[in-house]
Amino acid sequence: MRRYHLTTFGCQMNSHDSERIKGMLESLGLGEATSKEDADLVVFNTCTIREKPDTKLSAYLGDAGARKRENPDLVIAVGGCFAEAQQERIFDLYPQVDVAFGPGSIPHLGDWVGVGGEGVARGRFGTHEHFAGHLPPHRERAAHAWVQVSMGCNSTCSYCIVPAVRGREQSRRPGDIIAEVTRLAFDGVREITLLGQNVNSWGRDLSPDIRTEFGELLRACDAVDGIERIRFTSPHPKDFREPVIAAMAECDAVCEHIHLPLQSGSTRILKAMRRTYSRERYLTLAARLREAIPDLALGTDVIVGFPGETEADFAETLEVVEGVRYDSAFTFIYSPRRGTDAAVMADQIPEPLKHERLERLVEVVQRIAAEKNAERVGNIEQVLVEGPSRTDPTLLRGRTRRNTTVLFPGVGEAGNLVDVTIEGSTSTTLRGSIASAVPA
Ligand code: SAH
Ligand code: SF4
Ligand code: F3S
Repeated sequence: MRRYHLTTFGCQMNSHDSERIKGMLESLGLGEATSKEDADLVVFNTCTIREKPDTKLSAYLGDAGARKRENPDLVIAVGGCFAEAQQERIFDLYPQVDVAFGPGSIPHLGDWVGVGGEGVARGRFGTHEHFAGHLPPHRERAAHAWVQVSMGCNSTCSYCIVPAVRGREQSRRPGDIIAEVTRLAFDGVREITLLGQNVNSWGRDLSPDIRTEFGELLRACDAVDGIERIRFTSPHPKDFREPVIAAMAECDAVCEHIHLPLQSGSTRILKAMRRTYSRERYLTLAARLREAIPDLALGTDVIVGFPGETEADFAETLEVVEGVRYDSAFTFIYSPRRGTDAAVMADQIPEPLKHERLERLVEVVQRIAAEKNAERVGNIEQVLVEGPSRTDPTLLRGRTRRNTTVLFPGVGEAGNLVDVTIEGSTSTTLRGSIASAVPA
C-alpha cells in the first residue's frame, strides 16, 4: 500500500481528526494521493449531524465501491460520526467498506488497514477511547492550528446526535494542552483555535489536583510566546461565565470574535431543544460580551423548522438575529436524527415550510453581514496572511482578528501579520491594500 486519499465531512473537530489521520498514515510511510482514483486506501471521515452528509457519503461510497470492483485490492475505510452512529449496520448498508472506526479510535487505524504490519483487519472497532494527541498532525494551514481541549459533550440538546457519537465530555489535561501549544508556536504557528463541543465547560471533570477552568486555560495559552491569536469554538451560552469574559478582555492574544450558538430565538422552542437558556438570558449575555470586549464580532448557529416551531416562534428568531446583528451565521434546516428525542416529537414541520423559513432567515443574515462588513471600509485592520487567494493568485488571503476573510494584492508568507486598509466589502469578505507591516 502506497497512497491514501482522505475525504472529510463535518465540523472543525473532524477537520482536526483528519489532520491526525493524515499525520499517522504518513508516519507509517504512506503518501497522499492526488485523487481517489490514484489511491490504494480511501478513507472517509464522516459526519452525521444532518441527513445531508449521510446522503453525500452514500454517493461517495457508491463510487468507491465501483472502483473496488475494478481493483479488489483497494481498501475502503470509514471513520467519524456516521461510522459510530451506524456501527451495527454499516457493513450491511455498505458491503464495500473494509474497515469502520469511531472518532475515538483513530490511533488504531494504521493497524486495521494493514499498514502497521498485519493484513487488513476487516470489521469495526473501538469507541470514545482517547485523544489522538500523540499522533503527529499533518496541518492544513502553516500558521494556524486546531487544538483539541475536550472530547464529547454532556449536554442533551434534543435534536443533536453528537452526544451519542462522541460520548461523555472528557477534558484534556492542561499540561498536555499547553505543551502542544508551546510546540506549535515553536513550529511557527501564530494562531490557534481551541476546540470542544462545549469549550467553556472544559476543566470541570479534571481530577482535583489539576482542576481549573476555561478562563485560566485562555490565560495560559496567551502566555505562550509566539502565539498572536487565540480563538475557541464552540462555547455554550449556558456556561459562559464572568471569568472567561475577563480573560478574553485581558488577554491580548484572545481575538475579538465569539461563535455563540443561538439555535432559536423563542424561549418555548429553546426549552423543547433543552438548551437550558431563555431568549432573555441569551440576549443579556450577548450584550454583556459586547460591553466587555470592544469591537467584538459575534457569530452563531440557527436551526429553523424544529418540531412545533410556529410562525410566531420563527418571528422571534428573526427578531433576535436582527437585534444581535451577527457578523456571520450558519443556518440549518432541522434534520431529524435517529435516536434523538426531537426526531419523535409531534408536529414535525413540513419540508417546504422549513425551506421557506430558511430562505427568509438567510436573507436577513446576509443583509446584516453585508452591512457590518461595509462598516469596516476605511479602517486599517490587522490581517494574518494564510496564503494566496483560491481564485486569484495575484491576491493574498488572510483573516482579521474578528475572523473576516480579507483579500489584497501582494506577495507574502503565511504567518505574516500585515496592516491592510479596507477598501471594499461583500457579505463574506473584505478587500483592501497593504498599509504597512505590523512591527513585531
Ligand atoms: N457543540 C456545538 C454544536 C455542534 S453541531 C454547540 O452546541 O455549539 C453544529 C450545529 O449544527 C449546531 O449548533 C446546530 O445549529 C446544528 N445542528 C445540530 N443538530 C442538528 C439537527 N439535527 N438538524 C439541524 N441542525 C443541527
Ligand atoms: Fe449537540 Fe448541544 Fe452538545 Fe452542541 S451542546 S454538541 S448542540 S448536544
Ligand atoms: Fe462534527 Fe458532524 Fe460529528 S458536526 S461532531 S463531525 S456529527
